Amino acid sequence: MVTPAGKPVWMITRDADVRAGFLDPRFSLQAGRAVGAVRRRALDVTLVSYDPPHHTRIRRLATPSFAPYRIGSYRAAAETVASDLLEPLGRRQRFDLMAAFAHPFSFQVMCELFALAPAARPDLYAWAASAFTRPIRDRAAVTANLDRLDAYFRDEVGRRLADPGDDVLSSIVTGWEPGGEVSRDELVSLCATLLLAGYESTAQMIGMSVVELMARRELLAALHAHPAKMPQAVEELLRFNTPGPFGTVRTATEDVRVGDTLVPAGSRVLLSTGAANRDPARHRDPDLLDLDRPAVGNHLTFGLGPHYCLGAPLARLELTVALTAIVSRFPGLTPVTPLDRLSWRGNHLSRGLAELHVRPRGTGDHEY
Ligand code: HEM
Repeated sequence: MVTPAGKPVWMITRDADVRAGFLDPRFSLQAGRAVGAVRRRALDVTLVSYDPPHHTRIRRLATPSFAPYRIGSYRAAAETVASDLLEPLGRRQRFDLMAAFAHPFSFQVMCELFALAPAARPDLYAWAASAFTRPIRDRAAVTANLDRLDAYFRDEVGRRLADPGDDVLSSIVTGWEPGGEVSRDELVSLCATLLLAGYESTAQMIGMSVVELMARRELLAALHAHPAKMPQAVEELLRFNTPGPFGTVRTATEDVRVGDTLVPAGSRVLLSTGAANRDPARHRDPDLLDLDRPAVGNHLTFGLGPHYCLGAPLARLELTVALTAIVSRFPGLTPVTPLDRLSWRGNHLSRGLAELHVRPRGTGDHEY
């Protein structure tokens, strides 16, 4: 098929084939790119630009810091961020949940994890947000902001090497050995990438989950009554709808047979996690959002294999904390705009809510 951007691509959609695709080293992310080919910014070198073994040596630096037990220790910090943001919103008639909560929440939690100086956060937020605003109106301004982010992390890595704390960023930086297998450029890139990697997808996942719950008020009420069900609900919401319905584009390094089809060497390949998550061969009644689904969590929203989302434990924590805080405070939450007329942005590879205006206490009669 041809993407809306006019590029020919093979799309893999069956659950079993998508799983196999994530695990198949012949579907390469590096696709011939030279190792260490640092261009202008440290951000040019990211985990998703390399295949193993180069990918492995860089990822190893961050893996222990993103382990579920380590991330779990940030739950109280995430709850404080959620409550500080939501408390004033409860006094408003209506607000944009994306701008007033989802985006700042996901960014602030990452700042807490990295113990970034509060004074630096507004600038960092503005630079990061500009990288994700669509459509891009001023490409030069985005590039300049990414350069500023890069310069910030170059300095910050130096500061943490000299004076580490007990936060996630410090543990990544102090695990690095000068002159070892990871270059300083790669270290800086890794740190900057981590700040950006989960920001937009987690914020969008919060917004999209709220949309699904507002469309099914019985689920909103059930979660309000039984908050302990939230982690399971989060897994089902992750399966049901995702802002990134594909893995990163891969390139076949040789001919690969997928079912009855031969994907020729050199082809670009999209692994459709969105389609796989609705494959009836894997998920019974896949179009039903069922919070009591058995084997919940058996989805591909975070990918699989060597590039499996490093931030999955953090995303799960953030979603659980954010949705619990929203549902417990605002069980009457209603959309201002009918749900079939929300304003979306993005493209075929990632989509998201441009805004999501809600009334925290509802209107008594639902407007859609
Ligand atoms: C709901 C939110 C999120 C979703 C749906 C998501 C999804 C994904 C997916 C599908 C991949 C694999 C890409 C591929 O193999 O093609 C991935 C990789 C990655 N994600 Fe996430 N992610 C989320 C949140 C986060 C967060 C919060 C972080 C924070 C650090 C993060 C960091 C990363 C990184 C660093 C990678 C690259 C891993 C590697 O190449 O080894 N993600 N993510």
